[in-house]
Amino acid sequence: MKNFKNKVIAVTGAASGIGRALVEGLLASGANVAASDVDSANLQALRKLGDVGVLLLSTVDVGDQTAMQVWANEVKNHFGEVDGVINNAGVALSCHAADQPRAQMEWLFNINYWGVINGVEAFLPELMRRPEACIVNISSLFGLLSVPSQSAYNAAKFAVRGYSESLRQDLRETAIKVVTVHPGGIQTNIANNGRHLHSITGSAADVDKTAALFNSIAATSPAYAAKKIMRGMQKSTPRVLIGSDAWFLDKVQRLFPAWYDRLLVPMMTVGTRMALKRV
Ligand SMILES: NC(=O)c1ccc[n+]([C@@H]2O[C@H](COP(=O)([O-])OP(=O)(O)OC[C@H]3O[C@@H](n4cnc5c(N)ncnc54)[C@H](O)[C@@H]3O)[C@@H](O)[C@H]2O)c1
Repeated sequence: MKNFKNKVIAVTGAASGIGRALVEGLLASGANVAASDVDSANLQALRKLGDVGVLLLSTVDVGDQTAMQVWANEVKNHFGEVDGVINNAGVALSCHAADQPRAQMEWLFNINYWGVINGVEAFLPELMRRPEACIVNISSLFGLLSVPSQSAYNAAKFAVRGYSESLRQDLRETAIKVVTVHPGGIQTNIANNGRHLHSITGSAADVDKTAALFNSIAATSPAYAAKKIMRGMQKSTPRVLIGSDAWFLDKVQRLFPAWYDRLLVPMMTVGTRMALKRV
């Protein structure tokens, strides 16, 4: 997708963080945007960014397959075509694998994994008809390496990566490009809105500080993340890493694929203890 002028791009999880920054960036680049989220109030606050001719706002749960298909039809009927979908909506869950209630894991998977599949399946038939089109699936740095207390999030983001890389190969004879995105820590509401049953340090006392801790170490702005994602779409980059933390830890994981945790966990523990003193 060389440029965004008059292109129609659908964005899930658009009411906050990276999604909201994408809506701003895409509108500024001349795209028409279909923005959806479960959070109606914050979604409607996007109206000030553009009128209904360029910005369609829809309250949709990505985990609801039927609702996603209804939304895809709504976008097509409203704008006449769809050139891209960015499957961005996501949630956070911190819990030790051994104690993780199945219901919490299913809650996360329904959004972070099935939400992506629902988005791809809902928009794929229309994207197939376009001369050039793009599917962007947001995985994570945690789709490249695993850390303690994130087994559900890690598993879902690894799954998004695996699905997306295979999808890209399945679509190689079509005009649809697939971009998989692996952000490091981005300054958004993901931790504030997340469910934290255990902390990364293993201390029950630190659970309440999990969000504050994340917020204190996330270094990259949502606007920068959106810019990198949009550049990835323009260049059809198969894998987009965002932030120096993602870049560095991806290298560590490649160098020591079987035991990067021996290096990472002590680093994280020291870093976490230092950060906890600040929050
Ligand atoms: N912030 C980070 O450090 C970071 C790092 C790596 C990956 N990511 C990924 O980036 C994506 C965007 O997250 P963010 O950091 O901007 O978080 P955020 O919490 O600021 O925004 C996520 C949005 O998704 C929406 N959402 C949640 N459940 C939904 C559902 N069922 N249906 C529709 N919308 C739903 C929320 O209402 C919210 O507006 C997520 O997939 C997340 O996993 C974030």
